[in-house]
Amino acid sequence: MGTARSESASLLVTQIGTLAVVPPGPVPGPRMHQVTMIPDAALLVRDGRIAWFGPARQAPLDEGSVMVSAHGGCVIPGLIDAHTHIPFVGDRSGEFVRRLAGESYLSIMEGGGGIRATCRAVRSATLDELVSANLPRLHRMLEYGVVRADCKSGYGLAPEHELKQLEAIRELDRQQPIDLEPTFLGGHALPDDFDGRPDEYIDTITAPELLADITRRGLARFCDVFCDRGAFDVAQARRVLQRGMAVGLRPKIHADQLAAIGACGLAGELQAVSADHLDHIDDAGIAALLAGNTVPVLLPGTSFYLGTPHCDARRLIAAGLPVALATDYNPGSCMIESLPWIMNIACCQLRMLPAEVLVACTANAAAALDVHRQTGAIEVGYDADLTVLEVPSLEAWFYTPGLPRVRAVIKAGHIVYRRP
Ligand code: NIG
Ligand code: FE
Repeated sequence: MGTARSESASLLVTQIGTLAVVPPGPVPGPRMHQVTMIPDAALLVRDGRIAWFGPARQAPLDEGSVMVSAHGGCVIPGLIDAHTHIPFVGDRSGEFVRRLAGESYLSIMEGGGGIRATCRAVRSATLDELVSANLPRLHRMLEYGVVRADCKSGYGLAPEHELKQLEAIRELDRQQPIDLEPTFLGGHALPDDFDGRPDEYIDTITAPELLADITRRGLARFCDVFCDRGAFDVAQARRVLQRGMAVGLRPKIHADQLAAIGACGLAGELQAVSADHLDHIDDAGIAALLAGNTVPVLLPGTSFYLGTPHCDARRLIAAGLPVALATDYNPGSCMIESLPWIMNIACCQLRMLPAEVLVACTANAAAALDVHRQTGAIEVGYDADLTVLEVPSLEAWFYTPGLPRVRAVIKAGHIVYRRP
C-alpha cells in the first residue's frame, strides 16, 4: 500500500557509521551473507527514492538538501515484517500458561481454543475497536525499525467479519506510517458454526461475490490458507487458493508448521509467493519451493514461544532458497511484536549470520510480499525507507539482544520516527 511520495527537497543522510548495502531481493541463500558494508558513508534521497550512496567524502553537493546526521550509527534498509496476524483483539494468556503446563497448541486448538477463541473476540469487536486496539502495536513496530508489514484477516471466519478485519487493515494503513500489505486468510480455521462441514465453510469463504468485493475494493493483495494437520488439507487449500487466484489474489500458504502434509508441494504447484513456517519441511518440500520460485518465510518466534523444534534454516539456505524471516505476531502462537527480537532468535538459535538475518528481514521479506522491485534494498531508484541504528555496525546490534537500538526511521525520505 502506498505512502505518498515526497516531491520535496532532497535529503542527505550524513555521518553514517556503516551503510549496509543490501542488494535487491530475492537473494538466494548462499549469497545472503554478502552484504557490502560501507564505512563512513552518506546517502542522498530525492523524491522519496535513493538517488546516491557511497563514502561520505564523495557525497555530491546538492544545493538545498536537508542534512540529517546518523550520528555514526549503522543504516540499514527499513525492516519488513512479512507475516503478522494484525488486526486482532482478545487475550489468550490462559492458553500460554496451559502450554507451559504441558498441553500442546494442537490439543488446545482441537478443544475449541486457539484461533476459534480469537475468532469469538474479533466477531464481537467493532471496526473502530479493531483499529484502536491495533494502532499502538503498529506504533511500537515502527519504533523497532519496521516500515512495511503483512497484515492478515483470518479471525473473522465469516464473510462479514473477514471484511471487517480487511477494512480495519485499510484504516490502520491510513492512520500510521508503516505500509500494510493486506492478506485474506479466510481459510485460517474451521469456525464453530461449521463444525464437521469444512467444504461448506470453504464455499462460503470463497464465494464469488465475496472475493469479487475484496478485489474490487482493493482490500487484499494475497490469499493465504492454513494447510496443516488439524487445519485444512491439501485439496481444500488448493480450492481456496485457486479461487483467490481466479480474482487476482496471489497465493500464500501456512505450511509444515505442525506436520508435513504436502503444503509445500501445493505452494510449488501454484507458484505461491511465499510458504510460511516450514518447521517440518522435508527434501521434497524444499524442491517444490525452488521449483515454484516460492519464498520461504521462517517464523522462529513461534517455535520459541511454543517450545517446539525450529526450522532447519541452514538447510534451506544451503539449498539456495531466498530465506525470509518474520514475527508471525498473533495472540496465540507468538505474541512477539518485535522483529529485532525475532532476528536475534534467528541468529542465536537458527545459526544465521547477522548479514543473512538482515537480508531475510529486508530484501527477501520484500520478495515474500512481492514488493522487491521497489523496496527492501539500498539501491539507486529504490524507496528511501531506512532504519538508523544507534550502534555503528550490524555486529554490535546483534551482539546485544533485547536493547532498543533504533534511533530513527525514514520512510520515502521523511523522518517518521525519531527516538525522543
Ligand atoms: O501462524 N498457524 C496458524 N496461524 C497462526 C496462529 C494463530 C493463532 O494461534 O491465533 C500462526 O501461528
Ligand atoms: Fe501465521
